[in-house]
Amino acid sequence: MAGAGSTSELLRVDDLSVNLSSGVPAVDSVSFELRRGECLALVGESGCGKTLTGLSLLLAVPPETGSTAAGSIRLDGCELTALGRKRLRSVRGGRISMIFQDPAAALNPLFTIGSQVVETILAHLEVSKAEARQRALGILEDVGLKNPQRFLGLYSHQLSGGQCQRAMIAVALSTEPELLIADEPTTALDVTVQRQILDLLVRLRREKGLALLLITHNLALVAHLADRVLIMYAGQIVESASLEELFEAPRHPYTRALLECIPRLDARPGLPATIPGNVPVPGRWPAGCRFRERCAAARPGCERPQRLQPLEARPGTLVRCWLAAGMNLDNE
Ligand SMILES: Nc1ncnc2c1ncn2[C@@H]1O[C@H](COP(=O)(O)OP(=O)(O)OP(=O)(O)O)[C@@H](O)[C@H]1O
Ligand SMILES: [Mg+2]
Repeated sequence: MAGAGSTSELLRVDDLSVNLSSGVPAVDSVSFELRRGECLALVGESGCGKTLTGLSLLLAVPPETGSTAAGSIRLDGCELTALGRKRLRSVRGGRISMIFQDPAAALNPLFTIGSQVVETILAHLEVSKAEARQRALGILEDVGLKNPQRFLGLYSHQLSGGQCQRAMIAVALSTEPELLIADEPTTALDVTVQRQILDLLVRLRREKGLALLLITHNLALVAHLADRVLIMYAGQIVESASLEELFEAPRHPYTRALLECIPRLDARPGLPATIPGNVPVPGRWPAGCRFRERCAAARPGCERPQRLQPLEARPGTLVRCWLAAGMNLDNE
């Protein structure tokens, strides 16, 4: 599904790295671009560095967790890493918003939903309090909270999980961002509410031309929403491809393994496949290919310590694997 007006670049990220507060790298030289109105999915198992990547785009990694160590983040050509605090605050929660897996933790329990939406609008847009309230009512309705007047006066603990998620999306959308970073936006929800939130995101993209960075480990969600996909493993992007290419001809053995884990109706009875082993934690990344210890296709040569750069497997598809890129390791 190509988003409306998805041709011009909105965000360009080059060599973005995040170190944990211990100094250990957790996100390693991540590069990608996101076009206006596009949905780009960032996919990988738990602990690969997806959330830290999302937070670092807003330069919002909590100092007790770590910090953005290097790289460039350009929004419409404007270098965010060079902005002062005040201008950065206007971008963060303004032109770029983020929603989180746990809406109850993202909403402030001490303030009504209405005051949180209104205050966010007042902090970012030059409107009167009456206009901000009017706008808040419209947004609550937009995200599917029927009877928005009532929701204005409620606190997060008075809402169901699905209503909380919608309220958080309302806060995130209240400043009409161009880019929404959605970190596991449906994981905590039951399937019916998941579907409603998905439909809401699809509608917001269509109606408002919103660009979306969808962070998830759920490939079904990706298939439903994304135009392009980044596969992340141990702090690195290991494959980057269009949705169709990724599902029809996955190049990286890790991508293939992830796809094989999707439950299928025609599969033999039993538990769905899993990838043996675990994602190595930061500080324990092996030299050479970081996936090789779990890789069904690994062979002598994959452990060579040279830094493995992304290679163009075909136009528009990058893959960080010597074998998948067709290199002969036997002659090395
Ligand atoms: N506050 C922290 N202190 C120490 N390590 C951390 C902290 N936050 C994240 N990490 C580590 O950094 C790595 C990347 O974490 P991140 O939260 O970005 O992973 P993720 O891909 O979002 O995983 P999940 O799918 O579970 O949300 C993990 O190994 C994690 O343990
Ligand atoms: Mg995460």
